[in-house]
Amino acid sequence: MLAIIGGSGLTQLASLEISRHEVVRTPYGEPSGPLVFGRIGAHEVVFLPRHGHGHTIPPHRVNYRANLWALVKAAGAREIISVASVGGIRADLSPGTLVVPHQIIDYTYGRPQTFFDGGEAPVAHIDFTEPYDAALRERLLCAAEAVGLAVAGAAVYGATQGPRLETAAEIERMARDGCDIVGMTGMPEASLARELATPYAAICAVANWAAGRGDSRHLIRFEEIEAVLQEAMGRVRTIIEHLCAAP
Ligand code: HPA
Repeated sequence: MLAIIGGSGLTQLASLEISRHEVVRTPYGEPSGPLVFGRIGAHEVVFLPRHGHGHTIPPHRVNYRANLWALVKAAGAREIISVASVGGIRADLSPGTLVVPHQIIDYTYGRPQTFFDGGEAPVAHIDFTEPYDAALRERLLCAAEAVGLAVAGAAVYGATQGPRLETAAEIERMARDGCDIVGMTGMPEASLARELATPYAAICAVANWAAGRGDSRHLIRFEEIEAVLQEAMGRVRTIIEHLCAAP
């Protein structure tokens, strides 16, 4: 079964033939909402909107541990595709662009970020050299190519704390660090998936130029973001549908 974690702009999947909803409790508290089970084509899918069904949970308050635990341990998901909106830092990643990142730099803080949190379990360190699963990334890129949709196939995702957007100087520094896109939810989601040894990849829609870049030079205008995101998430859906149609 494939888990899809939906982000801003993707709070439901029209192509998902829903069979049931399930409220799940975990040792880490409640996930963002009931899990939505169903099928896309022949593929069993479990869907969870990261910010809750009413989009009320801000990035720093998402219970990432409960979400991952619910999807993997309770629902039995074997792989996870994360959908997220991001700001574009690199010059070619303008609003509307789709991106499958290959690396992460984590700037978040104060988020419960591990299942290995002391107690009875022995100390464990996961390898996180390549934070995303190579094979799952490849399937996303192949699905995009098959339906003729352009996707940037490599980018460094900078995960910020939010919920405020960044300053222009922060984005400058992130660019110097090597970040290509910026978002608020990529971590600790990716490392928790790795802790559960579950392949995880992300497909991101660039909603806006990051602070200080492009038309966000002086200010980020929210009115325009919504329309860009809706259209871009339509393309993300098409890609995921195709990925699910593949054997
Ligand atoms: N910064 C951080 N997260 C985001 C942005 C941004 O500019 N756009 C969408 N998610």
